[in-house]
Amino acid sequence: MREEIYTELIMEHYKRPRNFGKISKPDTIYSDANPLCGDEIKVYVKFSGKKINEIKFTGHGCAISQASASMITEFVKGKNFEFVKNLSKDDVLKLLGIELSPMRLKCALLPLKAVKMAVYSHLSKDQK
Ligand code: FES
Repeated sequence: MREEIYTELIMEHYKRPRNFGKISKPDTIYSDANPLCGDEIKVYVKFSGKKINEIKFTGHGCAISQASASMITEFVKGKNFEFVKNLSKDDVLKLLGIELSPMRLKCALLPLKAVKMAVYSHLSKDQK
């Protein structure tokens, strides 16, 4: 099946994920899991004003979820809230560079949801 053949880029991010680890004293942390497989991701973010200054993740999962987390965290570093808010499924697919089955799409979107929720939870803290 075409979507099961991962590109070198995906495998490279899976084996050497960028931004893997924790941030000491993050402004916000958000954890999420894929209920279908139990894989988990935890996102740590430090902000500088409205920008993402530092972002890291921990957790475990399949090649797609880990590569997606690595690519998304690279992509949003230094960007502002608005940029993260507007990130879509298509942006993630573009980063990964392949089409995905609905099953695999859930894997790819798990980190996107976690990153967005981390940003939103920080925003809602700010408004309190
Ligand atoms: Fe669990 Fe992909 S199989 S996130």
